[in-house]
Parts: sequence; C-alpha cells; structure tokens
Amino acid sequence: MQKLITPYAHSFGKPNVVIKHFPDSESYILIPQIKSLKNKPITIYHSLYPEPDKRIFELLLILSRVKKETKNISLFVPYLPYARQDRECKTGEAVSADVLCVLLKNFGVKKLTTYDCHFLPCPGNFKRSGLNIENKSAGKELVKYAKKYFGKNKFLVISPDEGASYFTENAQGHALKKTRKREEHGLETEVHKIEGEVDVEGKNICILDDIIATGGTIVKAVEHLKARGAKRIIVGATHGVFAKDGIAKKIINANTEQLFITNSILKNNLESFIHVVKLNTN
Ligand code: R5P
Repeated sequence: MQKLITPYAHSFGKPNVVIKHFPDSESYILIPQIKSLKNKPITIYHSLYPEPDKRIFELLLILSRVKKETKNISLFVPYLPYARQDRECKTGEAVSADVLCVLLKNFGVKKLTTYDCHFLPCPGNFKRSGLNIENKSAGKELVKYAKKYFGKNKFLVISPDEGASYFTENAQGHALKKTRKREEHGLETEVHKIEGEVDVEGKNICILDDIIATGGTIVKAVEHLKARGAKRIIVGATHGVFAKDGIAKKIINANTEQLFITNSILKNNLESFIHVVKLNTN
C-alpha cells in the first residue's frame, strides 16, 4: 500500500503531496510521484480541518489526479467535518454529511477511515450515501491517558451525552443526557441542559466526548458534576475543534484540572496547557 500524505497530515508521515496557493488564494496541487501509483492500491492521508471548505476542495483536486492512475483509493481523514448536520431536522435544511460522502465516493474513494465520526453510532464499518466508512475510536487511547494521569487514584469515565456513550461502555462509565437550544434558522446553539444522576460524590472523573467545538457541552457537564460533589475532573476529546479562541481556557476555568485531545486536528495556535495524545493509526 502506497501512501500519499498531504502537508496538513504531517503528523501521520512525511508529506509527499505539494499543496501551494496562488496569490488569489486558489489551491495548486502537485503529486511528484504520480506515475509510480499506476494501478497500485494507495491511501491518501489528509486533514480536513481547520478551513474545511478549502481542505475538501484540495482533496478533490488530489483525487481527480490520482484516480487517473488507480481505482484502488483509500482515504484517511482523522476528523470528518460537515458530519454534524446528518439529517434534515427542519424542512429545507441541506444534509452536509451526505453531500461530503457523495463527493468522496464520486471522486473514487473506495473506503474512508476516520475517527469518532459524529454521524456514526459506534466504531465499526458503515456505509453512508454509497461511501464505505471505517469508523475508529480514540476512546482506548484517551482512557489510557486518563489512567496514567490519575495513577493509583480511581476514577469514573463519564460522557456528556448519549451520542458519546460508547466511550464509556468499555470503561464501565456512565452517559449523561444533553439538550440544546435551537435558533429560528435551525443552527444549534448553546447547550441548554445536562441531566443525569450519577453518584460522583468525592470521585475523580474523566469526561470523554467526541468533539469539543464551542465547549458549551463540556462546561455544562463539568458544572453538573461539580454541583454533585465530583472531586477532580479531567476532560478528554478525540477532536479539538475549538471553534473560537479562548474555549480551552473557558473549560480549564470551569474547574477542569486537565484537558487532553488527540492529534486528529493540528492547530498552530493550540494552547500549551492542552495535552495531545497521539493516535495509534496502525
Ligand atoms: C455532540 O453531541 C457531540 O458529542 C459533542 O458533545 C458536541 O459536538 C460538542 O459541541 P460543543 O463543544 O459546541 O458543545
């Protein structure tokens, strides 16, 4: 299996795809070793966040060239953006999850491997809009880090909502329940409520979620658990989206002792107090 690695996926190997930008910001792609890919199985390693629109278009440019050489194309994208709008909640909404899957399939991707994909219920093999998807989970790696962090001290794993409950199942943990407010135009906004009674009095807690975007979910979950007597709280997530500056600080200020994410998203301005757990992609 040959690998094509873009500069945005440099933490998964040495880049061998050239991506540049013209003065007007349009993207330019060059795959110097393209001829050596003839009829070979290849895997493209790329990152689609931050700047998802641009990264997706660059991926389509790469695929457009690679599929002239080989039909056997796999794609590794650790964080799949546009996955949160996975159904038409309000009539007239576009379902971005399907659009992305259709695009990838039509551009020749035989299989996508990703991590903790928002629209999938658990790790495993799935198909959406004709695209084959292997959904892996960083749950084990995150729990391993929590074990190391707490050392001999016992802790409980808790997920803030049922969507992320599979994170806790293997760690004998618990899932809380979450509701969000919806604005008139349909965009999900701040987390309205976290509910769920778990005995956390005097216990150390590791909260695990798939994504931290605005941080609203995590902050509410920390407050909920603190109000019920939780002792030390650490927070881990697969994807550190951190949609705005200051979100990580907000989580730390809300009584979180440690914040850790994986290297699924590589941000240049990541705060130094955030610990990064490397995904084991083998
Ligand atoms: C959604 O239900 C996910 O599991 C996360 O809890 C959510 O995406 C986090 O978003 P935010 O950080 O904006 O609350």
